Amino acid sequence: MTDCVVNTGLSPSQPTNEDSLFHSRVLAITSGKGGVGKSNVAVGLALSLAKAGQRVAIMDADFGLANVDLLLGVSPKHTLQHVLRGERVIEEIIMEGPRGVRLIPASSGIQELTKLESTTELRLIQGLQRVAVGIDWLLIDTAAGIHDSVIKILMAAQEVILVSTPEPTSLIDAYAMVKVIHLRDPLKPVWFLVNNAQSYEEAEEAADQLQAATSQFLGRDIVSLGVVPSDAHVLQAVRQQQGIVDVFPDSPAAKAFQAISNMLMEKVPLKGDAFNAFWKELGQV
Ligand SMILES: Nc1ncnc2c1ncn2[C@@H]1O[C@H](COP(=O)(O)OP(=O)(O)OP(=O)(O)O)[C@@H](O)[C@H]1O
Ligand SMILES: [Mg+2]
Repeated sequence: MTDCVVNTGLSPSQPTNEDSLFHSRVLAITSGKGGVGKSNVAVGLALSLAKAGQRVAIMDADFGLANVDLLLGVSPKHTLQHVLRGERVIEEIIMEGPRGVRLIPASSGIQELTKLESTTELRLIQGLQRVAVGIDWLLIDTAAGIHDSVIKILMAAQEVILVSTPEPTSLIDAYAMVKVIHLRDPLKPVWFLVNNAQSYEEAEEAADQLQAATSQFLGRDIVSLGVVPSDAHVLQAVRQQQGIVDVFPDSPAAKAFQAISNMLMEKVPLKGDAFNAFWKELGQV
């Protein structure tokens, strides 16, 4: 287990205002049903993007079952809550995992993020501006289900990756999630990722079913991001607390993460203000 904090090279008292430094993409990874593989997807995609030379941060926004730290093999001592309480500066809570992937441990601080005092919010935004320097992607691993706190994160993010297994129960909950997002913002980009599929036919059928429901009842299309097959290497990598992309790079799931991260790099537009917009919107909801 590594245990180190990130040195951004900037003093906490010197926020930079150069917009050109803040070009990032902000994706929230979510699901209707729990246990479908969101956290593994977040880490798999983060490491694949990092392997391709991208600078990536993950925020663990699952305040019930935060476990991205375990998957990355790091052990944070402090979270965003300490920053909000003024006990730590943001540089002190960020951990660096494999391939330079940064982890913003948020755990149980997320609900507080939606009701910030203006001075706290300013402190947070200024801290995050320093951190945003040099981050190309912020991936947010959310909790499962249609809870207000999760929906707020999804609405603040630039785009959403909705993860589901091909099982009917998971698909039904995925549809419910699309509906909630759609009713709040019909233009919010939502990618659909089928995880833990036994075959590509099964995954395709699942994507077709969801697409049929969203098209019929919501009048919107769901864009498929790809398929991660069911692969025993996923669990082996978890047990070793290492990324599958690093320990089993030729496994079917690792190859799928690489392909999906390539697609993200191609399809998700770079936004100058996405990182800051995310935090500002979260504080304002
Ligand atoms: N493609 C896959 N092949 C095989 N096993 C997988 C795959 N994806 C995930 N798993 C397994 O499924 C379990 C749940 O994965 P994970 O913790 O990533 O789900 P989650 O959606 O984040 O769960 P939660 O809703 O509790 O946050 C883990 O044991 C993981 O190893
Ligand atoms: Mg999880």
